[in-house]
Amino acid sequence: MPPTLLIVDDEPDMLQLLKRSLEPDLHCEVCTADSGESALHLLANTSFDLVLADIKMPGMDGLALLEVIRRNHPGLTVVMMTAYGHIDLAVEAMRAGAYDFITKPFEHDTLVLRLEKALERQRLIQENQRLQRQCNGGEESFQRMIGKSPAMQRVFETVQMVAKNDLTVLITGESGTGKDLTARAVHRLSHRQKGPFVAVNCPTVPENILESELFGYKKGAFTHATQNRTGLFQEAHGGTIFLDEIGDISPSIQTKLLRVLQEKEIKPLGDVHSIQVDVRIVASTNQDLKAKIRRQEFREDFFYRLNVLPIHLPPLRERVQDIPLLADHLLEKHCRELNKPRKSISAELMGIFQERYWEGNIRELENVIVQGILFSPEETIQPRDVGWHAEQARAAILETGLKGLAYKAAKEKNLQHFNHAYIGHVLTQYQGNVSQAARFCGLERQALQQIMRRYGIRAEKFRT
Ligand SMILES: Nc1ncnc2c1ncn2[C@@H]1O[C@H](COP(=O)(O)OP(=O)(O)OP(=O)(O)O)[C@@H](O)[C@H]1O
Ligand SMILES: [Mg+2]
Repeated sequence: MPPTLLIVDDEPDMLQLLKRSLEPDLHCEVCTADSGESALHLLANTSFDLVLADIKMPGMDGLALLEVIRRNHPGLTVVMMTAYGHIDLAVEAMRAGAYDFITKPFEHDTLVLRLEKALERQRLIQENQRLQRQCNGGEESFQRMIGKSPAMQRVFETVQMVAKNDLTVLITGESGTGKDLTARAVHRLSHRQKGPFVAVNCPTVPENILESELFGYKKGAFTHATQNRTGLFQEAHGGTIFLDEIGDISPSIQTKLLRVLQEKEIKPLGDVHSIQVDVRIVASTNQDLKAKIRRQEFREDFFYRLNVLPIHLPPLRERVQDIPLLADHLLEKHCRELNKPRKSISAELMGIFQERYWEGNIRELENVIVQGILFSPEETIQPRDVGWHAEQARAAILETGLKGLAYKAAKEKNLQHFNHAYIGHVLTQYQGNVSQAARFCGLERQALQQIMRRYGIRAEKFRT
């Protein structure tokens, strides 16, 4: 792919001239913008390898443009152009992070040479970033766990503590709360970190195959067993096996796993001998295993063998204060992965994120952010870009999340949602002015404040 160059200048003739001469000589594709503002617009939607910008322009000048580029696209190389006699501006631009500057009028060959150098630098930066991602970035991005809330701090402490010994771990939490990430963190922080980490997503493996997958088989053990096969437990020898979503496995496999936990050995299908395995088991579930035990769908003795070291991941609604951090982290991660310029989240959308009921927890938040990155035409992602209008989002809060709750808990949750939705709406209308909102609600100011305190609604969030 040829490199892409963005040229920004307020003189249309200059833009035409540069495009015509540079495209063949630099073997690149040139886009042009006649102002700083339209350059930003292009940068938000397309990725470029180099920006060549004039300093003096009406409206947003080159220096202001440079500042925004440095903030939002820190890896992008910028070369400035300035008329002869404005050397002070050029120096200022270099200080602000421009890679080079070229004074007008310029020799065509000199310009080509300097831009070639800038493109080469950009290529090296990109190559370096790619290699870094390959070495550790990819690994790191899925292993980095974000959370400053007290609930998550407790989780991190537990993970550290649990990782240090070799006992069985059971990770519980609603779907999308980070169970997978946590299992990998336990492995990475343990003395088994250099050993294998083998993940088995139990519900996706058909029941009749799960046993032979886990324990392996001997040739001739069943009709299609034409040769010996090693099971996943043996593959995980010296490391960790992650039995993801263990809640649905059949009683017969529960019994076999119980044996592994007790004896630390496995028996491949059709084999008379057992094999010793040195594997740490980490299991996860989003189900209430105690309820399953009561319904006799889960073996109690197996549960107690699994639940030696429990780690519970709180749902996102119990760590609302982490939402801005998480959103920012996920935004950064996916802009990078999707090769998009760094975007931001509007204050209104972030407000909704913090009020919303997240049935699918962080995974759902992540999906919304990816949608926002792909669909927002601007640099800032707005509620409409993810298909939400503030009102609809608040209404959605009322509809979800009450399934499967006892009356008291459902009522309390609904009250929570009602108060966030209703008071949120009124405060939006009055831009966070509590006195005016109280008057509209027909309440005393103190009464409204008391309700807001009880449900954790902050007026500042609604001030513009
Ligand atoms: N604390 C966190 N910090 C950063 N990213 C997180 C955090 N927790 C979860 N994620 C991200 O959210 C997504 C869902 O996490 P994960 O797959 O670990 O959850 P899960 O509980 O296993 O979900 P499921 O029930 O759907 O299997 C992943 O992309 C993960 O990287
Ligand atoms: Mg999972």
